[in-house]
Amino acid sequence: MSRPLRRGRSRIATSSSFLADDYLRAVVATPGLTALRDLARAREMLWEDALRAVPLVERFEGSLVDVGSGGGSPGIPLAVALPGRDVTLLEAQQRKCDFLRQWAPPNARVVWGRAEEQPVESYGVALAKALAQPPVAVEWCLPLVRVGGAAILWLGETAELDAIAAVAEKLGGAPPEEHGGLVVIPKIAPTPEGFPRRAGVAKRRPLA
Ligand SMILES: C[S@@+](CC[C@H](N)C(=O)[O-])C[C@H]1O[C@@H](n2cnc3c(N)ncnc32)[C@H](O)[C@@H]1O
Repeated sequence: MSRPLRRGRSRIATSSSFLADDYLRAVVATPGLTALRDLARAREMLWEDALRAVPLVERFEGSLVDVGSGGGSPGIPLAVALPGRDVTLLEAQQRKCDFLRQWAPPNARVVWGRAEEQPVESYGVALAKALAQPPVAVEWCLPLVRVGGAAILWLGETAELDAIAAVAEKLGGAPPEEHGGLVVIPKIAPTPEGFPRRAGVAKRRPLA
């Protein structure tokens, strides 16, 4: 039987002593991290929505990277839910990295940098929520993943799977699977020569 949660502490059950509500209050209170201003909505959008990916992540072995982690979703909720997995919170803006370092659970580390400039084929799963247009997000995420792993993107149920499939095919990805707005792209072949392209190129000249 689960223990009752202490009054005034997290109302979200977590698998560790991590206080989810304290973290979410800090995200909401820190300028530039989220447009959400309400704790209940932050729980829904930044915590519970992230945890929808747990069964999908569990299909693939290895460490996780949250690309463009911003205020830490989905990487921090998934690190708390999956304490046996190493999680990298990758973020291009130093100011956001400073915030992430204050809240990263023990199995998470923060890397300040751009996706296109990271070592390739280093992770089991790359995650991205609200990172960029889908073809760009796929191009930034899939090279980071080893063959046998996957990119998992929060794209919504209206995502253009044809465009995503076209980019995935060019980067060693299988056809995308859609699961309630989460798109899973298994990596089935090594990243081809020439990828990732230089920083900025994916946005200027998307692959689809
Ligand atoms: C809209 S925010 C989303 C943050 C978080 N995933 C969420 O859903 O709340 C996108 C983040 O991606 C970061 N970002 C943009 N391009 C990036 C890149 N090429 N590599 C790493 N981070 C990037 C931005 O600095 C920003 O913090």
